[in-house]
Parts: sequence; C-alpha cells; structure tokens
Amino acid sequence: MSDLDPVARTARLTAALRARESERPDRLFTDVLAGTLAGQAARALAEQLGEVPAIAVRTRFFDDLLTEIANAEGGPRQFVLLAAGMDTRAQRLPFPAATTLYEVDRPELLRLKDALLAGVPEPACRRVAVSADLAGDWPRSLVQAGFRADLPTCWLVEGLTQYLQEANVIRLFDRITACSAPGSHLLAEFVAASLFRDPAARPMLDALAEQGAAWHYGTDEPQPLFAERGWQVQSVPYAEVGQAMGRWPQNGVTAGGHLAHATR
Ligand SMILES: C[S@@+](CC[C@H](N)C(=O)[O-])C[C@H]1O[C@@H](n2cnc3c(N)ncnc32)[C@H](O)[C@@H]1O
Repeated sequence: MSDLDPVARTARLTAALRARESERPDRLFTDVLAGTLAGQAARALAEQLGEVPAIAVRTRFFDDLLTEIANAEGGPRQFVLLAAGMDTRAQRLPFPAATTLYEVDRPELLRLKDALLAGVPEPACRRVAVSADLAGDWPRSLVQAGFRADLPTCWLVEGLTQYLQEANVIRLFDRITACSAPGSHLLAEFVAASLFRDPAARPMLDALAEQGAAWHYGTDEPQPLFAERGWQVQSVPYAEVGQAMGRWPQNGVTAGGHLAHATR
C-alpha cells in the first residue's frame, strides 16, 4: 500500500471507507475522489474490515459543522485540517472562494496525495498543503505557509489523537490554543478511553499495534482538554450522533468516543 509509514497508511484506509460509504444508497456523503486516494490495497483491506460506522458518522458530523462555520457571516476564513490525510473537503464542501484551507500532514503523505490528485480540478477555495510533524513545531511551518494567528481559525483534529501519546495530545492542544484568535472554532474527535479496557476491542487494537499503527490515547471526558485552555465546548458521544443518523449498531464492537465542537 505504497511506502508510507504505517500511521500515514491509515489515511488511505479511512479514504477507502469513505469510498465504500459513497457507494451506499443511504450514504451520508459522497466522496468521489476517495477511491483514487485510497488505492486498491486499502480498498481490499476495507472490505475485510466490514462495517466501520465511526468513519462515516464522523465525516458527516464534521462536514455539516464545517459547512455551517464556513458560510456563517463573519466566520473564519482560514481552516486548518491537522493530519488531513486523504481528506477531500477542500473539493467536496461549499467553502467560499475567500477561504484558505491548510492541510497539515507528513511530507510523504502529501506528496502521494498531490500525485494522486494530478489532473483533478483545483477546489473553489485556496488549498495549501503544509508538510510538518505534528509532534514537532508545526505552527512555524503553518505560519511560513501564510497562516495568520491573529485571525480566527477553524481547526479540525480528526483521526489523529488516538495515534499520539497523551503528552503529545496535550502539547497539540496547547499549540492550537496559542494560535487561535478570538472567534476561532476547534472541532475534534476522540476514541473512548474505555475502549482500551474492552475485551471485544482487543483484537482490533492488537491488529493495529502489529501493523505499527498502535492507538495510545483515548478519553471518556474530553471537556477538560478544552475548558482548561479557555474554550467553550460541546461534546457528544459517537453513539448518540450515530444513532441519530441511523448508523450505530446496538451490539458489536464500534470504536466509540466523542465528537467535540469548541469555540473561543
Ligand atoms: C487515520 S489518518 C486520518 C486522516 C484524516 N484526518 C481522516 O480522517 O481521514 C491519520 C493521519 O495522521 C497523520 N499523522 C499521524 N501522526 C502524525 C504526525 N506526527 N505528524 C503529521 N501527521 C501525522 C498520518 O500521516 C495520517 O494521515
């Protein structure tokens, strides 16, 4: 599945799951580029996994919020997708033309994405790819790419925190906060801490670790991460959002957790 490191490779798997969702008659969104960005190997792996409702549910949840925030009068004009992976919201969502959307991820992932998107028309908004290590001094790379910390920003942290150690999650939120002018939004997604104690989740966690993409961080109470840094936050359990969308099984392993929207 290309020579990406195992964590970067998970971006192709989530793209494969979005491609599969896009083929459902009751799809929650349509991502026409996802199949190309995923590639054959990730699509085959997605078939083996069966139902993974969390990816479709979180994609639709954040699609709706990003669309609302981007089109609100006086709303932020800069958006930052941290660990953007194979995200195609720049192309899929109706961002106003005056929007700049920064996609931050590892250089090799962004290089592959660029190659796979060759020939695809430019999105209506301005998309800027920023190569950086999110455990390092990524705000510096973002500023060098044109990001303005004195203007409101809408951040998205999706499919990332579970791959980080807790200390790096804390540092990430400190850095996001330091770069967030008043009027900013922070959208984030977390897997449940209880998942790590759930015997039914063990085979999935072991398989991820074996592939070199171990999950380290989860939380059952994301509010303090935001509140301690001056954000007002609303967070909802995945299960609640998924059930409202008709996509959360009553039984079986689902990667539960929380979806959060914070403002300051
Ligand atoms: C599961 S994918 C999620 C991608 C995308 N947000 C989505 O939901 O489809 C995880 C992403 O995190 C990125 N990532 C993980 N650790 C990183 C780090 N330290 N620096 C930069 N990117 C990182 C990987 O390259 C990968 O694209």
